[in-house]
Amino acid sequence: MSEKPSLTNPTLETIRRRHSIRQFSEEAVSEEEIKTILEAANQAPSAHNQQSWHFVVVRGDKRLELSELVVEKSRDYPKPSSSLLRMAARSIASAPVTIAVANTGDLIEHGTELFKVEREVAFDFFRTMEIQSSAAAVENLLLAATSLGLASVWLGVLFLIKEEVLDFLGEPGGEFMAVIPIGHALKESSGPSKKSLEYAVRRL
Ligand SMILES: Cc1cc2nc3c(=O)[nH]c(=O)nc-3n(C[C@H](O)[C@H](O)[C@H](O)COP(=O)(O)O)c2cc1C
Repeated sequence: MSEKPSLTNPTLETIRRRHSIRQFSEEAVSEEEIKTILEAANQAPSAHNQQSWHFVVVRGDKRLELSELVVEKSRDYPKPSSSLLRMAARSIASAPVTIAVANTGDLIEHGTELFKVEREVAFDFFRTMEIQSSAAAVENLLLAATSLGLASVWLGVLFLIKEEVLDFLGEPGGEFMAVIPIGHALKESSGPSKKSLEYAVRRL
């Protein structure tokens, strides 16, 4: 008789444990931990296996520069955007490492040939698939960090200042996906509760 698969395991536990943390302690993150997290991100599924993502590791003085850039640019925005940008800047400054994710446009560039679809529909299709692929990479990255006992948060609000952020990252031709400070949680928290499945699931 075959054994029933367990309904809990380390992967599911990590998924349940992950939640956004926005303030970090001064405790360092090792190069091995960063490499492990990047390998997990790079392992994600991607449309046509194009892996059309770049991961940019921002440490040391560079993360403070990035944080200052965000504070400076926040002044161009009204509340609450400016407050959210400043909150993001504080997360970046307090985390020992930040990893940014930018789409390369490789799928957009090669897609028409790879998929044999009309040029008119191609751009929307490939851009969406690049975003979807990179989102899978970001989730892998967040889960890998959680599995190593590290905390993280996906900062999407930097999209508002994406040109400046992409320039800073050395990815001026890329598309902004995410900026993710990673470190040890300043204090533990359990994260927000989620809507029950009955809101999200329909069965046909
Ligand atoms: C695409 C995306 C963008 C996000 N942008 C921000 C952000 O700019 N600032 C922030 O503090 N949290 C951001 N978050 C984190 C969400 O606020 C968080 O995931 C949500 O409140 C659920 O909490 P949890 O991650 O703890 O489960 C973002 C999450 C996603 C998926």
